[in-house]
Amino acid sequence: MPAAVVVGAQWGDEGKGKVTDFLAQRADIVVRYQGGDNAGHTVVIDGKEYRLFLVPSGVLRAHTLCVLGNGMVIDPKVLVEEIDNLKAQGHPATNIRISHAAHLVMPYHRALDEADEERLGSKSIGTTKRGIGPAYLDKYSRCGVRMADLLDPGLFAAKVKANVEHKNEILSKIYSKPGFDSKQIIEEYLGFSEALSPYIQDTSVMINDALKQGKNVLFEGAQGTMLEIDHGTYPYVTSSYPTAGGACIGAGVGPTQIDCVIGVVKAYSSRVGNGPFPTELHDQMGDHIRERGHEYGTRTGRPRRVGWLDAVGLRMSVRVNSLSALAITRLDTLSGIPELKICTAYRLDGKITEDMPLSLADVERCEPIYEKLDGWEADEIVSATAYELLPTSVKRYVETIEALVGVEAKIFGIGQDRAHTIVKGHLAF
Ligand code: GDP
Ligand code: IMO
Ligand code: MG
Repeated sequence: MPAAVVVGAQWGDEGKGKVTDFLAQRADIVVRYQGGDNAGHTVVIDGKEYRLFLVPSGVLRAHTLCVLGNGMVIDPKVLVEEIDNLKAQGHPATNIRISHAAHLVMPYHRALDEADEERLGSKSIGTTKRGIGPAYLDKYSRCGVRMADLLDPGLFAAKVKANVEHKNEILSKIYSKPGFDSKQIIEEYLGFSEALSPYIQDTSVMINDALKQGKNVLFEGAQGTMLEIDHGTYPYVTSSYPTAGGACIGAGVGPTQIDCVIGVVKAYSSRVGNGPFPTELHDQMGDHIRERGHEYGTRTGRPRRVGWLDAVGLRMSVRVNSLSALAITRLDTLSGIPELKICTAYRLDGKITEDMPLSLADVERCEPIYEKLDGWEADEIVSATAYELLPTSVKRYVETIEALVGVEAKIFGIGQDRAHTIVKGHLAF
């Protein structure tokens, strides 16, 4: 009865959507366990591209039930649009369930996210401005509005009124911004409730029942380990737990249920938003990888910052997620670069460190130490149908990563399409 977590091992956009969709061929259920529509997960099937923001990346497999877990913050407007889009693309989207305990992203959350970024100016986090931080803030302040509230119009209206009153004061007095009309929000959201209520239930019960019956459950993380609120590059992080432990909390299962954790690793590094990035490339090589890999945010369209693979960050990811295997994506994007680099350690004030320093100021002063490796050509990689058929230089690149972090790589991305995926050996899931 395998239950596996797919987690981003870097700063997000590693290709979790692609890996989740691939593994979903064997999944009865796929659960998104945190985050909201700050995520953008891309799945490409026979050249057709799907961009998913809230709905788990198992939705394109007809036999897979897709759950939006209690750990998520959900903007119902975005969700209704996403479901409508899926239907318009020929996917019935009836295989969706939403946790009654997931929180709602409200219009005032987006306004507060934007206002706070503006206040921070040059110190801004570079959020997606989708209201994610403020929605989690309300959750932990215990004044948030949940999916279940949508099913009780009287209770919903009372909660929204109380929140709008309070948020309007903050918006006007602290940020000098216009406030909101609670009536309008209530009307709009109860409209969404009509569309969403058939999907709302206690999904923790459903997931645990499925596990008891020996069904395969996949937990799909959003964002990445280095954007995690505790272990990431705080404060340049998101407001949730993208790490493997977050799957338990955000889906309502215990840790003993999890059989394996797959860390998705881009063959290089990218980051969108602000914050430290020791291996960032500010030169032509960075531009080359960005353009070749079309490294522009799925959610916001922002150009992604690009750099060499960072084994220091990956070791942290292996540790805090207890990774059982790696899925290395975008090996094809590095094709044609004669010499590749992997950061094996940092130099900080003349000393070598193999672990991420505790303080952000220290991370910013770190100088990466690189191991150089031979590259490969595009035509050597695109036609490979098995790991053994990959060029020696790709295998050496993979083996170097495995040796640096102590975890075996089992899944490889050699192109954007679902079909461009290779598996090495036996997958526990
Ligand atoms: P996610 O947020 O982790 O799901 O990743 P995104 O979908 O935001 O960004 C990853 C991008 O890389 C998407 O455009 C994917 O289609 C693409 N991608 C994933 N794996 C591969 C791969 O192995 N090769 C190539 N060329 N593109 C890939
Ligand atoms: P997926 O799931 C990459 C980044 C933002 C910003 C920080 C905080 O597609 O990998 P937030 O809006 O969450 O408060 O922003 O986190 N960020 C992501 N970066 N991929 C994502 O999701 C991200 N979701 C948030 O750019 O730096
Ligand atoms: Mg993404």
